[in-house]
Amino acid sequence: MTENRPSQRPSGLQKHSGRQNLDPHLERYAARTAGMTASEIRALFAVASRPEVVSLAGGMPNLAALPLDTLSAQVAEIIAEDGLVALQYGSAHGVPVLREQICEIMALEGIKAHPDDVVVTVGSQMGLDMVTRLFCDPGDVVIAEGPSYVGALGSFAAYQAQVVHVAMDDQGLVPSLLREALDQAKKAGRRVKFLYTIPNFHNPAGVTLAVERRAEILEICREHNVLVVEDNPYGLLGFDGQTYPALRSTDPDNVVYLGSFSKTFASGLRVGWVLAPHAVREKLVLAAESATLCPPTFNQMIVSRYLATHDWKGQIKKFRENYRERRDAILSALDQYLPPGCSWTKPDGGFYVWVTVPEGVDTKAMLPRAVTARVAYASGTGFYADGFGSRQMRLSYCYPTPERIREGVRRLAAVLESEMDLARTFGNVSARQIQGPQNPSPDTV
Ligand SMILES: Cc1ncc(COP(=O)(O)O)c(C=O)c1O
Repeated sequence: MTENRPSQRPSGLQKHSGRQNLDPHLERYAARTAGMTASEIRALFAVASRPEVVSLAGGMPNLAALPLDTLSAQVAEIIAEDGLVALQYGSAHGVPVLREQICEIMALEGIKAHPDDVVVTVGSQMGLDMVTRLFCDPGDVVIAEGPSYVGALGSFAAYQAQVVHVAMDDQGLVPSLLREALDQAKKAGRRVKFLYTIPNFHNPAGVTLAVERRAEILEICREHNVLVVEDNPYGLLGFDGQTYPALRSTDPDNVVYLGSFSKTFASGLRVGWVLAPHAVREKLVLAAESATLCPPTFNQMIVSRYLATHDWKGQIKKFRENYRERRDAILSALDQYLPPGCSWTKPDGGFYVWVTVPEGVDTKAMLPRAVTARVAYASGTGFYADGFGSRQMRLSYCYPTPERIREGVRRLAAVLESEMDLARTFGNVSARQIQGPQNPSPDTV
């Protein structure tokens, strides 16, 4: 994937906006809050959820295939049979039986783990927060793919870590560029704490790290004494049922693995986990305890009972089929409608397509006009900590119906065509005066 020039101010370093300056507490905030800015994606959710807008913006899992009747009966059983445990505090480590089940799930991607080394978290987002808290002092460097998951960038910014992006191609992270970035950081005397990577069905890029590259990436990190944080919420959502060997499966002492039930079961339950090297486990439990005391016992018991009594692999297959149908719809619509000069990735699992538009079009500047045309996407700059991505956008195909996806892409193509016309006539769109807010409010629609 091509990198392009930075646009405007790097998102992780934004100063307080005029609106925040009205905040009477401004002088009181800790220095680290300077990196806490609302993600472009969050600002979009309100607009994109209006029914007339086809939202290709948010990455909400499509839960329609869940067996709600079965689940409601199971929830009632938990309360009736074990309510006083389910509604009580639990251990910061997580419910033991669920930790065992999590080990069985990870075995599908080649991981041999002991339940003691699994720490249950409130979604893998909490895992990201804890890992960053444990390892990063202000100014430490985290290496991440460019682009990368916006929630991870938020955690890194919150702990004042600096992100160095390494480019991907259609085979995922490029090992030679990783080595280069690590060598450069070393030369510059910067402390690199970990590589954050999403090897499977990447968010937002939609690519998967080639199996042949995995050992090399682990080797490079070991050579440079850098930990690997492997974030894998989509690993079981390969459209042909294919799975890839987890990085953690071959390097248990140098990989922290993050897992989640958000994409394979129910995101609202907020149950995820961290599998840490044994030596890190205790610190993780302490960090989890200070954050939440314990993850919700009730939710863990719901997940555990679901895994024990339901055909959860069959359920994941249903999800996969659902997403594959939507992936097919978006790829054929992109082929049919998008103007020449655009390119995009071809995911074989997960939720996302990453689109690159022609020179002269700025996807962030274009967004209000797209929303006015009743289609929303996530502009590329939100997925970089350093202002790159102005010619990229992420399209999520996970949620709308195939028909709505096709219609959304058709609308997007029309906006892009007129944007390209303007760019041809007047030059770079980002350089022109943009009327209206860049992050659209609901009033823009
Ligand atoms: C790559 C990645 N990591 C982590 C998360 C957070 O997931 P969870 O719901 O488990 O907190 C997401 C959610 O979209 C994601 O895409």
